[in-house]
Amino acid sequence: MNVIDSFRLKGKVALVTGGAGLFGRQIVEALAEAGAKAYTASRDLVKLRLQAEQLRAQGLEVEALELDQGSEDSIRQIRARMDADHGGVDILVNNAVARPMRDWSSPAADFETSLRVNAVGLFLMIREFGERMTERGGGSILNIGSIQGMVGPDRALYEGLDWGIPPDYFFHKGGLLQLTRYAAAILGPRGVRVNAISPGGFFNNQDPTFVKRYEARTFLGRMAGETDLKGAVVFLASEASAYVTGANLVVDGGYTGK
Ligand SMILES: NC(=O)c1ccc[n+]([C@@H]2O[C@H](COP(=O)([O-])OP(=O)(O)OC[C@H]3O[C@@H](n4cnc5c(N)ncnc54)[C@H](O)[C@@H]3O)[C@@H](O)[C@H]2O)c1
Repeated sequence: MNVIDSFRLKGKVALVTGGAGLFGRQIVEALAEAGAKAYTASRDLVKLRLQAEQLRAQGLEVEALELDQGSEDSIRQIRARMDADHGGVDILVNNAVARPMRDWSSPAADFETSLRVNAVGLFLMIREFGERMTERGGGSILNIGSIQGMVGPDRALYEGLDWGIPPDYFFHKGGLLQLTRYAAAILGPRGVRVNAISPGGFFNNQDPTFVKRYEARTFLGRMAGETDLKGAVVFLASEASAYVTGANLVVDGGYTGK
C-alpha cells in the first residue's frame, strides 16, 4: 500500500470520548478529515450536536452520542448502539477526563469520583470495545494520557498563582500508560492495537505568567494548539502504524525531554 494511502480512514468508524473538549475537537476533526465516520461522545449532547452540525457543514461525517463514562450501563449502551449501527467501531479514542479534584487538600470522595470515570470507566471502554474489535478482526484504541502521567509536577510553574495541582490526575494518567501496555498484551494477539498519546499543556488563555513559564519549559517555546494532536491521532488510528502497539507517543513540544 502506498504510504499516504495507509493514513486514510475511508470506510472506518471512530468513536471519540470527550469529543467536544479542548483536545477532543481536533481529534474528532482529524479522524473525520482522514475519511472516518466519527462519533463524538460525552454527557453534554447539546454541545456535541452543535459540534457535529458544524463539522458536517464542512463536509465531514460526524455524529453526536451521549456517554457517561462513570456509568457501566451507559458504556454498554453506547457499545450496543455502535454494534447495531455499524457492527462495532474500528477506532476508539479514550479522551474524556473527569477533573473533580482541585489539589492535595480536596476531599477523598473526589478521588473516588475520579477513579470511577478515569480508571474504571477507561478500563470498561477498552475491554468492551476492544473485545468487539477482536471479533471483527481488528481495530485501534488510543488512550489520551498527559505529560503529567510521565513526570511529576513542576511547582515552579504555579508559584504565586491560584492554581491547584490535582493528585488524582497524576495517578490516573500514569496508570493509563500501564493499562495501555496491559491491554496491548491482551488484545494484540487478536489483532487489536492499543497505544497512548501523552500531550503537553493546551493553550487556553491561562494566566500569562503561567503561559510564559510553561513556554520556557519546552524545547519549542510554546504550548499545544488547535492542530498539534491531529497527525499523531491519524497515525496511530490508521494502518500507517500497523506495527505499533503498547507505545506512548509524546506530543509535548519537548516538555518531558527538557
Ligand atoms: N488540556 C490540557 O492541557 C491537556 C494536557 C495533556 C493531556 N490532556 C488530556 O487530554 C484529554 C482531553 O482534555 P481536555 O483538556 O480537552 O479536557 P476538557 O475538559 O476540555 O474535555 C474533557 C471532556 O471529557 C468529558 N467528560 C468528563 N467526564 C465525563 C464522563 N463522566 N463521561 C463522558 N465524558 C466525560 C467532558 O464532557 C469533556 O468533553 C484528557 O484526557 C486530558 O487528560 C489535556
